[in-house]
Amino acid sequence: MKIINSLLLLFGIFVCVQSAIPNEFFYLRQMGPSDCIGNKCTVPSWYRQFAVHVFSARNDTYVPTNCDSNYPFSLDEIQSLVPDLSLEWPDFWNFDAPEGFWKTNWEKHGTCLLETLQNEYNYFETTLILKTYLDVEEMMIENKIFPSNTTSYSYDQYDNAIIRHTLKKPTIHCTKWGNKIALHEFGFCFNKQLQLIDCSENLREIEEVECGDKSSIYMIQLSQ
Ligand SMILES: *[C@@H]1O[C@H](CO)[C@@H](O)[C@H](O)[C@H]1NC(C)=O
Ligand SMILES: *[C@@H]1O[C@H](CO)[C@@H](O)[C@H](O)[C@H]1NC(C)=O
Repeated sequence: MKIINSLLLLFGIFVCVQSAIPNEFFYLRQMGPSDCIGNKCTVPSWYRQFAVHVFSARNDTYVPTNCDSNYPFSLDEIQSLVPDLSLEWPDFWNFDAPEGFWKTNWEKHGTCLLETLQNEYNYFETTLILKTYLDVEEMMIENKIFPSNTTSYSYDQYDNAIIRHTLKKPTIHCTKWGNKIALHEFGFCFNKQLQLIDCSENLREIEEVECGDKSSIYMIQLSQ
C-alpha cells in the first residue's frame, strides 16, 4: 500500500511537470536469470527474481544516451537507496559490486530523464518504485507460470499474464538456450507522466524476434 501511495504521489507530482524531452516514452526493462546463459554471472543461487536492467527514455527505434555530462554519478546521493538497489537492480556480472553498473546507467540513461525526474536520487528511486509496482514474479505466479528448465510456456501465456495484471501490453525479449528458447526480458512502457501505457506493436515486434515461433519459451530456473 505504501508503494502504491508513493507511486500516486509521484504521478501527482509529475503530471504537473512540463516536459520537452524529444523522446516518446520511458521504458523499464526487467531481465531474468537467462541473461546468465553463456555469460560469467556472479548471481548467487538464492537470487530468483527479475531484476531491473535499464530504465531509459526512448521511442520505438531510438534511445537517447549520455544527455548531461555535467551531472556525474554520485554514490552519496543515493546512499539511502543502496540496500534496495542492490536487490532490485543488481549487476548480474558483478553482484557484490554493482556501483559501476549504476554509474553507467545513470550517465547513459538517467541523465536523459533529468527533465522529468530532476536528479539522480529521483531517477533511482522512481525506478525502484516502478519495479516494485511491476512485480513480474507475482504476475507469473498468479498465472501459474513457474521457473523451470523442463516446462515451457507460450509467448501468449507470458504476455497475457502481464496484461491481465497491468491491462497494458509489455514487450517480451527472448534469448537462445542451446536449441531451445528462454525468456530474457520484459519491457514496460510509460508516458512522460510515468503512467503505464501499451508498448507499441512496432516495439513489441522488434523485441520478440528472438522468441522463435513463440510456442515454447522457458523461464529458466537458476537453482533448485
Ligand atoms: C525517434 O527519435 C529519433 C531521434 O529524435 C528520430 O530520428 C526518429 O524519427 C524517431 N522515431 C520515431 C519512430 O518516432
Ligand atoms: C537451468 O539451466 C541453467 C542454464 O543452463 C543452469 O544454469 C541452471 O543450473 C539450471 N537449473 C537447474 C535447476 O537445473
